[in-house]
Amino acid sequence: MTQPDSLAQIGVVGLAVMGSNLARNFARNGHTVAVYNRSAGKTDALIAEHGSEGRFIPSYTIEDFVASLEKPRRAIIMVQAGAATDAVINQLADAMDPGDIIIDGGNALYTDTIRREKEISARGLHFVGAGISGGEEGALNGPSIMPGGPAESYKSLGPLLESIAAKVDGTPCVTHIGPDGAGHFVKMVHNGIEYADMQVIGEAYHLLRYAAGMEPAEIAEVFREWNAGDLDSYLIGITAEVLSQVDAETGKPLIDVIVDEAGQKGTGRWTVKAALDLGIPVTGIGEAVFARALSGATAQRAAARDNLPTGTLSTLAGRGVDREAFVEDVRRALFASKLVAYAQGFDEIRAGSDEHNWNVDPRDLATIWRGGCIIRAKFLNRIVEAYNENPDLESLLLDPYFKGELGTLVDSWRRVVVLATELGLPVPVFASSLSYYDSLRAERLPAALIQGQRDFFGAHTYRRLDREGSFHTLWSGDRTEVRTD
Ligand code: 6PG
Repeated sequence: MTQPDSLAQIGVVGLAVMGSNLARNFARNGHTVAVYNRSAGKTDALIAEHGSEGRFIPSYTIEDFVASLEKPRRAIIMVQAGAATDAVINQLADAMDPGDIIIDGGNALYTDTIRREKEISARGLHFVGAGISGGEEGALNGPSIMPGGPAESYKSLGPLLESIAAKVDGTPCVTHIGPDGAGHFVKMVHNGIEYADMQVIGEAYHLLRYAAGMEPAEIAEVFREWNAGDLDSYLIGITAEVLSQVDAETGKPLIDVIVDEAGQKGTGRWTVKAALDLGIPVTGIGEAVFARALSGATAQRAAARDNLPTGTLSTLAGRGVDREAFVEDVRRALFASKLVAYAQGFDEIRAGSDEHNWNVDPRDLATIWRGGCIIRAKFLNRIVEAYNENPDLESLLLDPYFKGELGTLVDSWRRVVVLATELGLPVPVFASSLSYYDSLRAERLPAALIQGQRDFFGAHTYRRLDREGSFHTLWSGDRTEVRTD
């Protein structure tokens, strides 16, 4: 084992683009960075191409890598989530000493993180599952970081992470989220919200394109305008960029040559699965995940295309709708649906936090998501204010500011969902978010009937509005009611 002359404050294992950009970010911020990759080529490439950006200590074995770190050692793993992560964690833990900190910066499933934290802490080391958002660009220039794990490890790790995180109004986009899997849980929900956010933008684009008949370049301009208002966000900004791009080969708008099947690596799906277990209706995120799945159902789509009855379809002109007014309606429908997705995401985070006793503060999330991450948006400031005013807010939608906003959005939202339906254009998140909204504010829900049906076929009982207790009607007998508790 070779011992370098000076030791590194932080190490990065896994030097694919995210890992190598993160290492460069640490180095550019004045830290000495130990780097290791399973295959030497990536390590050599990083040093050859970016070695001059700061102080790197390259190693070619895990043992040398660990020996090049100052104590307590801090090593961030940036490898593919899953089995590869377990293998690297074990190698590191074998070479490290009690008190050292292993940080998993990948998109790990939070239940894996809970398990790993238990195993690693039993060996006297610290394990921190940290969500890191911002893609390749963020990793290099300032991501939003969501570290979980023991609060104690944040004392040693926090200042390092704060030095490389994005800053908004001087505040770094990183804070300790909560114990064990809390960091990866909130990163998962962040990604779920990202799915919904991307889908609502997609639905707005689709309507402007196929209901209003606008060209991608024109729509890009609309998104640029929207980006100067309430919708100001990273995702709206990049949407304008994508829509303005012209394909060099065909001269067509790039959007028109991209296959319309959306990929997914799994974090959106995890968000929905976790929400199902927690009993939280994240309908916007769910529809966004399903929309991606449907887009990839190639054979079914081919069989159904031009083959299923549409009923009578209308057009914007046929409905006498003014294009300019429609564009504004779509903007409002997008904003309203986005509010629902965030409200649902925050509901899931609260439920997850309660379930695992993480004590996650929603204000922290809204604060550190203002910069660096994929869902960064101006309106997150409003979410911070909402929870500042009332930390126990039943739903973000009930915050006085958002309630006021919804008042100005809801008519447009309804018109857009009706029109899209009449034109035969799919708007799964716009429509389901409106249904969620109407369900939430409804005086009565058909759940009463469902209780009646459950009692009929399974004696599952129901409660009454006018009396305490559980009741069952003798459906196959004389239909009198009996109290069952
Ligand atoms: C981020 C992103 C990042 C990644 C997603 C993409 O916060 O930086 O969310 O984690 O781009 O994993 O996910 P899909 O491939 O599932 O769209």
